[in-house]
Amino acid sequence: MRIPRHLAIIMDGNGRWARQKSQPRVFGHRQGVETVRRVVEECSRLEVEYLTLYAFSYENWGRPDEEISALMELLTAYLKKELETMLSNSIRFNVIGDIERLPTSVRRMLTDTIKRTERNSGMTLTLALSYGSRDEITRAMRKIARRVADGEISADAITESMIDEHLDTAMLPEPDLLIRTSGEMRISNFLLWQMAYTELYFTHTLWPDFDHQHLHDAFRAFGRRRRRFGLTDEQRSGDFDE
Ligand code: IPE
Ligand code: IPE
Ligand code: MG
Repeated sequence: MRIPRHLAIIMDGNGRWARQKSQPRVFGHRQGVETVRRVVEECSRLEVEYLTLYAFSYENWGRPDEEISALMELLTAYLKKELETMLSNSIRFNVIGDIERLPTSVRRMLTDTIKRTERNSGMTLTLALSYGSRDEITRAMRKIARRVADGEISADAITESMIDEHLDTAMLPEPDLLIRTSGEMRISNFLLWQMAYTELYFTHTLWPDFDHQHLHDAFRAFGRRRRRFGLTDEQRSGDFDE
């Protein structure tokens, strides 16, 4: 089993899981939080360095108000309850996305959790909240354009690494593996720039059912991938037996 340094997950299928059980969607989200706990602990145990979870997309703001409020409440309860686990596992908490759009109480909670875990040296857990990759890139472009307009840098000085540094993910390496649950095979506006060379893994398992075994299956599949980064097998051969 090969452990990715940075694992990103699109946690999908809560609504369908609830529907299968003739329950309201929020029932699925509640169970989904249990999966988050399980996966966070297992990744930390397996020494994944960075775990990034897509929890609420920019487009998810279009969902019914009751569902959005239920998700915000679950998030607040999760942060309140998990702080202890984060501290005892030395997990560093982090957020990406347009958090200005989140309710003030949620934002306060997020800032507080980030602050209280900032000196931890274990896994970095990043929640993508109110996150859309195109929105993130647009915000980064505005910041860079402002620097050019102010005469601080020239347009020709813009490099790929400068763009990296202006994204919300500036402090994260690129994801090595992306897992998406629920059988959907799309990226849904997640980390478009950052996933240029990420290995993609799709499973039919719905997020509330995703357990350690499914996670290990994904890591084993990842271990069988041959990452070439545009080069030939021969050039990369030294890297394959890690
Ligand atoms: C993923 O589950 C959780 C969020 C997007 C917040 P969904 O709510 O998208 O579940 P499905 O896709 O409707 O089954
Ligand atoms: C992606 O799931 C966003 C999150 C998991 C937070 P969606 O369920 O919103 O994606 P689409 O609408 O099926 O593409
Ligand atoms: Mg979905």
